[in-house]
Amino acid sequence: MRLEKQPRTNMCGIVGYIGNRGAYPIIIQGLKRLEYRGYDSAGIALLNSELQLTKTKGKVADLEAKAQQDKRSGTLGIGHTRWATHGVPNDVNAHPHTSNSGRLVLVHNGIIENYESLRAYLTEQGFTFSSETDTEVLVNLIEHIQITQGLKTGKAVQIALNQVVGAYAIAVFDKERPKEIVVAKLGSPLAIGLGKDEYFVASDASPFIEYTNRSIYLEDNEMAVINQDKGLKMYAIPDNSRVDPQIQELQLSLEKIEKGGYDHFMLKEIYDQPAAIIDTFRGRLHRDQQQILLSGLEEHKTVFQNAKRIIIIACGTSWHAGLVGEYLFEDAARIPVEVEYASEFRYRNPIITNEDVVIAISQSGETADTLAAIKLAKEAGAFVFGICNVVGSSIARAADTGAYTHAGPEIGVASTKAFTTQITLLLLIGLRLGQLRGTLSAEDFNRVAEELEALPKAVETVLKIEKEIEQIAKNYKDAANFLYLGRGYNFPVALEGALKLKEISYIHAEGYPAAEMKHGPIALIDKNMPVVVIATNKGHYEKVVSNIQEIKSRNGKIIAVVTKGDRPVKALADHVIEIPEVTESLTPILASVPLQLLAYHIALMRGCNVDQPRNLAKSVTVE
Ligand code: AGP
Repeated sequence: MRLEKQPRTNMCGIVGYIGNRGAYPIIIQGLKRLEYRGYDSAGIALLNSELQLTKTKGKVADLEAKAQQDKRSGTLGIGHTRWATHGVPNDVNAHPHTSNSGRLVLVHNGIIENYESLRAYLTEQGFTFSSETDTEVLVNLIEHIQITQGLKTGKAVQIALNQVVGAYAIAVFDKERPKEIVVAKLGSPLAIGLGKDEYFVASDASPFIEYTNRSIYLEDNEMAVINQDKGLKMYAIPDNSRVDPQIQELQLSLEKIEKGGYDHFMLKEIYDQPAAIIDTFRGRLHRDQQQILLSGLEEHKTVFQNAKRIIIIACGTSWHAGLVGEYLFEDAARIPVEVEYASEFRYRNPIITNEDVVIAISQSGETADTLAAIKLAKEAGAFVFGICNVVGSSIARAADTGAYTHAGPEIGVASTKAFTTQITLLLLIGLRLGQLRGTLSAEDFNRVAEELEALPKAVETVLKIEKEIEQIAKNYKDAANFLYLGRGYNFPVALEGALKLKEISYIHAEGYPAAEMKHGPIALIDKNMPVVVIATNKGHYEKVVSNIQEIKSRNGKIIAVVTKGDRPVKALADHVIEIPEVTESLTPILASVPLQLLAYHIALMRGCNVDQPRNLAKSVTVE
């Protein structure tokens, strides 16, 4: 396949500091904020008169516990929180890695794909390796070049990176150049924070946001030599030419990335949703003028007007949002829509034409499969519109145009506000497409727009019944399986509800179109099977009520999400969760919220790590 050689990147967070403060607390705090990127091992290297290196399997808290007091000094340092790809998580494989002489120290986020041949070459040259990592190969390659060609670190890094196939964000320092850190990027993110006589380096801005809001986001194939005395110089990795640093003023505030008083990021993010939804449509929805202003769409409106088909590509929760998008676009804009798992699409030899518009959805903007699917679609001539949350992310940059959800940082591994804001944005796009294609009446536009403006309040109403949902959760915390059912717009909600539960509580859960139940899953139903049914009063309500009767007659336990005031379902269900009445196309947003809370409370009662569920990472940057 065409894209097999695309660089893949792994998880991991990197932090670096050079300045006049103690580097240790800055790096440790920064690593904690980056644990959403990976948390199976961690390490820190500080430079004082000598190198102080501490590494451990486990989380940053384990690293803190292990770092002895006498290994915490120094005003230059780098740290790493890892998500293993090459080599199991253990102390030896943890970063930072040092070169054979002990001079160079390096942290890396990414994958060096040709590390085996480089390792063989370096072994012939007399180098030895103590870890199984590709990173140890890279640091020794730099050292080999430095020694054999008599170069400064920056130049050796640049030459080494030209021999590397793969993806990386690196930070490296040389013990003999104690005022300098060299950083470089290809495929994995890297930001530099600019303080007064101090510099920060990190996978995103969260580790340094309380120190400075001036930042440089390195582009692919760029590197920087950061010298405390001489300042920062940037270079293009391929030819070593100078690059002008592009300094940005960050809007991200620290409180936005902290838990805000909630026990978990996930809970905070569930409660963020009313504000996040407003942020998504603010300045874009102008109901009085019957206008949707999405610059990325307006600038290319003829492409959307003339498109023969929309293909939505995404993974996981974003794919579920894409399914809602299918209903929205088909309803409002009468255009054929296909929704594809990016991982299948990219390897399926799909038929793509230049009359297709591809919409790629990704919270992180770093999902490897979605990124690769975009590249494939672009090569085939399709126009790509990206929907991302993380500003400046790889997918945002790879797309032809797009729009951000503006949900704010989502730290909990389980997506919540990312999902509801993705749907909000898809709704705006659907409304505009309906206008552009002449398929949406002014009356329908007004009705939906008005309800969208009122939706944040409706979400708040749902959040107020958290305690009731917690009570329901108590009954089912020990269940072995769950079934989630919904029809029409509520089918993706069923899928998303099931995904939330399984990923954070480890209870097996399946989402199904309610009518499909009788084609198989009905065999699973007995008195031990909780079935969550989204049975709101629009769409196929009566049919869903029949499905509930089928469950009831097989003694299944029914937890129904219903429209406020519902009677028929209440008479059948073991528990009902009432949500305010909204127009059908807005139901997925509202109905998802109680399911997020249900999953959250069940997971909590089972003692699970809600924000960092086992085996999962926030951005899946590996295939
Ligand atoms: C969501 O709860 C999941 N953790 C996961 O399915 C996620 O939605 C998926 O990995 C896609 O991520 P993205 O939106 O960042 O591309």
